[in-house]
Parts: sequence; C-alpha cells; structure tokens
Amino acid sequence: MIAFSLGRLEAPLLLLGLVGFIKAHAFVAPCRPRPRYESAARPLRRWAREHGADQSKSPIVEALSLAAARIKAPFFFPGHKMGRGLPVGLPGPFAETNTALNKTRVHRDDVWQHDLPEIPELDNLFAPEGPIRDAETLAAETFGGAQRTWFLVNGSTAGVLAALLALVRRHQQEGQQHQARSGRSIQSKVLLPRNVHKSAINGLILSGAVPVFLSPVYDPAWDICHGVPIESALQQALEEHASGSEVAAVLLVSPTYHGAVMDIEQAALLCAKFKVPLIVDEAHGAHLAFLEVEVNEPGNVGPLASRAMTGALAQGADLVVQSTHKTLTAVSQCAMMHAGKGPLVDSAMLEFVGSALQLVQSSSPNYVLLASLDGARWQLGSPLGGGRAALHRAQKLAAKAKRLLLEETPFPILKPPDRPKGGAFVGLDPLRLTVGTMGTGMSGFDADEVLIEEHGVYAELPASRTLTFAVGPGSEEEDIDCLVAAFKALATLVDKGKRDGSQDMAGEEASSFMTDFPPFDGKQAAAGSLKCGPRDAYFTASEVLSTNDERVVGRASAETVCPYPPGIPVLLPGEIITVEVLRFLKGVLSTGGSVTGCSDPSLGKIRVLCWEKEK
Ligand SMILES: Cc1ncc(COP(=O)(O)O)c(C=O)c1O
Repeated sequence: MIAFSLGRLEAPLLLLGLVGFIKAHAFVAPCRPRPRYESAARPLRRWAREHGADQSKSPIVEALSLAAARIKAPFFFPGHKMGRGLPVGLPGPFAETNTALNKTRVHRDDVWQHDLPEIPELDNLFAPEGPIRDAETLAAETFGGAQRTWFLVNGSTAGVLAALLALVRRHQQEGQQHQARSGRSIQSKVLLPRNVHKSAINGLILSGAVPVFLSPVYDPAWDICHGVPIESALQQALEEHASGSEVAAVLLVSPTYHGAVMDIEQAALLCAKFKVPLIVDEAHGAHLAFLEVEVNEPGNVGPLASRAMTGALAQGADLVVQSTHKTLTAVSQCAMMHAGKGPLVDSAMLEFVGSALQLVQSSSPNYVLLASLDGARWQLGSPLGGGRAALHRAQKLAAKAKRLLLEETPFPILKPPDRPKGGAFVGLDPLRLTVGTMGTGMSGFDADEVLIEEHGVYAELPASRTLTFAVGPGSEEEDIDCLVAAFKALATLVDKGKRDGSQDMAGEEASSFMTDFPPFDGKQAAAGSLKCGPRDAYFTASEVLSTNDERVVGRASAETVCPYPPGIPVLLPGEIITVEVLRFLKGVLSTGGSVTGCSDPSLGKIRVLCWEKEK
C-alpha cells in the first residue's frame, strides 16, 4: 500500500494512499459502544462541539477512520461489508493482503473497510451538520472565501448540471411572480460559449433553458478554441438579451482544456451590471488560486495573468465548479462547487443549488470520495499539508519541460498571448503543456499512439494538431525527462520519414481536412442552425438514418454528438446537420479520435428529429 506520509506530499493522493491518510489522521478516541438511549443525532452534536474552523483538521477523514474502527457487525450496504465479501483471486484493487493475519476471512486493503454508508456519525451529504459540514466550511475558506462550498461525488458534471437547474428554476419563479403568470413557464435563456463541455448542454436539456451561444476565439493554426471575447461577444449578447430579463445565467469556461484563462473579473462586473448570475466552469482550474505566478516568466503565463490566475471565485463569479480530481489530488469523480459572496447569491440561490444537487447525484455518496475531497483541501489548507509546495514544484517541472522541448526538439509549444484578445485569453495555466504536431505529417492522434506504444508517455488530450499534457502535484522530474526523450525520438522519426518519403501523410491530410471546418468559430452557432432548443429536441419523435443517406443533411440532430476527449459536442440536439459537420466527425474517427453521446459511435447511423418545431 502506498502510505500517505506527512512530510512529503508531492505524490498524488491515490486511493490507497488516502487510506494511509485516513489512518494517520484518526483522532485517538476510545472505541466504546453507543449507549442504548443515545439518539442517532448525538454523535453529530458531539462532533459539532469538538471541531472549529481549524485547517489542520480533516473532519471527514477523521470521522471515517473512527467509524471504521468501531464497527463490529456491519449490517448495512454496501454488500461487501467492509471488503469481506469481495471476489477472491483477482488482482488489482481486489487483491487480498495479509491473509495470514486472518485465517477465516481474506483481509482487504483498507480502502474497502472505509467504504461505509451514512451511519449517524458520518453525517449526510444532503443535510450536513457534522464532519461533512465542517469539511465543506474549511474548503470554503481554503478555496478563496466562498459563502458556501458543496462537495460533489459526480464530478464537475454534477456541479454544472445543478448550477443551471438552480438558476433556471430561480429565473422561472421570479419571472412568473413578476409577470403574475404563476404556474406558466417563461423563457429562460442561458448565455454560454458554443465550445462548452457536454455537461452544460445536458444542463440545458434538463432545465429547458434556451441557449444563446457565444463564439469563442478560434486559433486556426493550432485548431484550438480559447475563451469568449468579453466586449464583442458577452457584452453584446447581454445587451441584446438581458434587457428584457430573459437571461437566467451566463456560463463561462475558464481555464479551457488547453489552459486558456479568461478575464473573469471583467466578465463578473459586466454580469453584475445586468443583474445576471455568472457560473464559471472552472473544472480545469481548482489549483489556480494556489499557484505562484511570479515563479514563472511572464512568457509562460501571460502579461495580464496574475489577476486572472487567482481563480474565478476571487474574481467575483457567483457559482464556481471545480474538478478537484483533475488538477488537485482527489480521487476521480470528486469535485466542488463554491458560491461567491456577490449580491445575487442569496439564500434562495443557495437553497436551489442544494436541492438541484440532490437531483443529479447519487443518494448513496461514497465516503472514500468525500474523504479524498477533505484530504485534497487539507493538503492546501493545513500548514502541514505540503500541497502548495507540491504545486510550486509542478510549476517548475512544467517550465523545465517547456524549455527543454523548445531547445531540443522542433515541436512548437502553445504560448500565452502577447496581446490578450478581449479578455478571452489573458493567461495560460502554467501546468498545462500543449505541443503542436503541425508540419510533421502526423496528427496529434498519430503522435499520441507513438508516445504511448514506444515510450509509455500518456497525454491528457490528443487532438488534430496537438497533444496536451497536464503536469500536477504528483508529477516527478523523471516524468519530464521521459516526455522530453519521447519527443526527441518522435522528432527523429519524423525526420527519417521525411528523408526517405516513408512518412504516412494520412495524419496531415486528415488534420487539414478537420480544420476545413473549424466547428466552434461561430459559423455553426449562427442564427438558424438551431432548429429548436435542446430540451424540445430531446423529447421530440426521432428516427435513425444512415449517415450516408442524403436525407440526413438539413435535418436536426436528435442527439449530442461529441468527440471525446475533450467532450465538447459538435452537434447538439436540435442542431442542423451539415455536410461539414459530418465530414468533421468522420475526420475525427479517421485520425484516431472517438465520438461519444450518439447512438452509433462508429457514425454509420445518426438519430434525427422526425418533425421539427419552428423556433
Ligand atoms: C470544461 C469541462 N467542464 C466540465 C467537465 C466535467 O468534469 P467531470 O469529469 O469532473 O465531471 C469537464 C471534463 O472534462 C470539462 O472539460
């Protein structure tokens, strides 16, 4: 088992390491049976007395450890009963350990012993009043002074869905009161970039909101979209749509998957002026507030980056969703949502967010996940945590990788802009490293295959012309050495291919074929391309046609079609299918990418609407 040592916390908080952490942090309390007369609420009340806002505590981790130690006869779910009922003879997480210790039962790694349900002393995620409440309060302080923080066990996906549901619900209720039309729905618009993650599109389907798409800045050389220009896109859209109080929310994505950070402060001021709440999908930016921007040369993060790098909460966003599992050390699926302290964040908004979270999350949240969120916060909040030092070390490693790749290989690296484009791209996350493959005869997908097969180097995001790598608090010097060596070998391969003409140019052709249709440059989001809103389309009668059938072009899609990663849909329910979109999607498949969200991932068929409502 990988132990989680207090002295050196640079390694990621792996699931099993977490258990070491749980053990190390168990407060020593006598294991005594609960007296018969004691009510279920007692342990929580006792908890409330013992714990204040002390960042060196880890409330969920401590409560979980104590609970696991005192349970003698588990008659609760999960059925594996603290690991005892798991399959025998399988490797990996199922591998039995220390069998000699226990002759009758196979002893399991501690992670299974901490997979407990909502017994009284462990609190309740949806009505927290004990360790979960305390852990969320500590996180609210650590992550920049949130009014309220919610722990999420279904990723940022749950946060984005709940934020949209809550704000559209609030908008509907206020609008109905205002117009004395109680019970009858009004139109709720949401302003958002066309290149949002599919969770936002699913949030539109669930909430029934009508999207107003904002065109992001598109860089054709790299085939990458950045943020949204604030004056030319966001302000214009607010002026056009918000004056009639039809806008329920603005949702922005910052940083993007490639690390482009927007000027959220400027966007937040603008939204406040129009009294429209701002949601920031900061799935890729949970670490931003803890970076040391000055340790990097401005060339690595951008001239205006220091303010933008403080994170969306500090810059005035109303709801901020962060994937703690992506850039910090929580286990996959773990995320947080923070509510800001602006005037629009009132008790009704907080209540609606809490209630929406119950719609989109399991009623049996996993305590190992919750404890890992608590552990990730502890790393950054406690003076003993070492998490900030680990992030600063990661910054230095990423800067070293960039320097060596530029000096020793011919591959270009995505740079922060010299002149920020209207607030759309004011800084670049120093831990995100995007390498270009243009001019090599290889697509990013081809290069990814070589790096994996021949060097064991795994990128986070391969794309048509790029490979994006995420450096993090668990990254090591050797990882950087491996990466640089792999790109040097790739350069030799490319050279050899060019010299003897053996380089297969299919990748190059496919990538230029893909850039024929820059899908999110605003053309697709132009008026008329949406036949109806995503929710209407989702519930409208539909049929499946072959993608070679000429009737497909001009029909509205009934499904979300989404290259993955990055999980940004190319077709939404209700959006008109064009020749260019089909060519682009087939280009994704032919360059080695995959397509999700649709009924046929090989794209032989596609589901289209049978009839379409006029907008
Ligand atoms: C911009 C963006 N938002 C939201 C999400 C969803 O995050 P999660 O995987 O934590 O649910 C992702 C996932 O990649 C993303 O890239």
